[in-house]
Amino acid sequence: MTDLDAIRSDLLADIAGAADAAAIEAIRVRALGKQGQVTGLLKTLGGMTPDQRQAEGPRIHALREAVTAAIAERKAAIEAAALDGRLAAERLDMGLPVASAPQGSVHPVSQVMDELAEIFADLGFAVATGPEIEDDWHNFTALNIPETHPARAMHDTFYFDRTDDAGRKMLLRTHTSPVQIRTMASQKPPIRIIAPGRTYRSDSDATHTPMFHQVEGLVIDRGIHMGHLKWTLETFVKAYFERDDIVLRLRPSYFPFTEPSAEVDVGYTRDKSGRRVIGGAEPEGWMELLGSGMVHPPGIAACGLDPQEWQGFAFGCGIDRLAMLKYGMDDLRAFFDGDLRWLRHYGFAALDVPTLSGGVGA
Ligand code: PHE
Repeated sequence: MTDLDAIRSDLLADIAGAADAAAIEAIRVRALGKQGQVTGLLKTLGGMTPDQRQAEGPRIHALREAVTAAIAERKAAIEAAALDGRLAAERLDMGLPVASAPQGSVHPVSQVMDELAEIFADLGFAVATGPEIEDDWHNFTALNIPETHPARAMHDTFYFDRTDDAGRKMLLRTHTSPVQIRTMASQKPPIRIIAPGRTYRSDSDATHTPMFHQVEGLVIDRGIHMGHLKWTLETFVKAYFERDDIVLRLRPSYFPFTEPSAEVDVGYTRDKSGRRVIGGAEPEGWMELLGSGMVHPPGIAACGLDPQEWQGFAFGCGIDRLAMLKYGMDDLRAFFDGDLRWLRHYGFAALDVPTLSGGVGA
């Protein structure tokens, strides 16, 4: 039975050369399967004399063990190589990119909010806030917009499908005006506040996004009249656009919570390339800037104040629009895309925040 050595070296060579799991399995079946070569040798033991069996038995069993071990070893090596290959090919880099340079910067909306706080602080205004998830009483009813009022339909409101504990419908505030109500209810006059923040309406195009920003202004004091409103807005717009030749136009308008109400436009001129520039002593046209008016006396009374003694004015202005007019963006949707290239173009270095007092581009 000298051919056992030949069978052994042939099989071991085949095993060593097997390239994948299928090849090694084929060899296993060929050698150790029911009809296998080694299995066949084992079967010959039964027909041998005891002497032959004693001589050949250990050799055949040794062959089977050697082949079994070689197959197991080769199989493990093939599996390990396959795993290594997958690990290399399906590599996931879980590391954070090295922050070699700052990625983000101050968003123009945050920048404008800072500028507004600064300008109005100089005029004695504090910053007030209110919830973005409001109830329909603060957002509408208290502002003289009852359930059946057409102005409710104009606001494209996002409602929640639940009410608060007082049974009021919950919604995403459609304007910052509910902060007027919350402020009058919680503070004693004289009141001078601005309330910048997020507002929501179901609306989307180049100049409308479902989430946008407004700033509310509210003054309640004795002897307040439209002249105070106009002077305050003029002072604000001049400071914001950083030029003195600002002309405002007040157009009669309607808001349920102000009487009289005025839409305020700012005059623009054109530069040499024909682009519209805010300002200029002799405007070539007008851009709508904000809504405003004298706080409706019944609203003052509803907050527990005597409208004979206390008067006020209010205004509401889109912050995103203010940013677009000052910094030249033309599509509002890009404000909220989170695209760093846009931010690098229009944003401001995080540690070099230009302020009106610090100087733009300082
Ligand atoms: N809240 C109004 C709006 O969103 C704007 C406004 C505010 C008008 C304050 C008058 C006074 O359209």
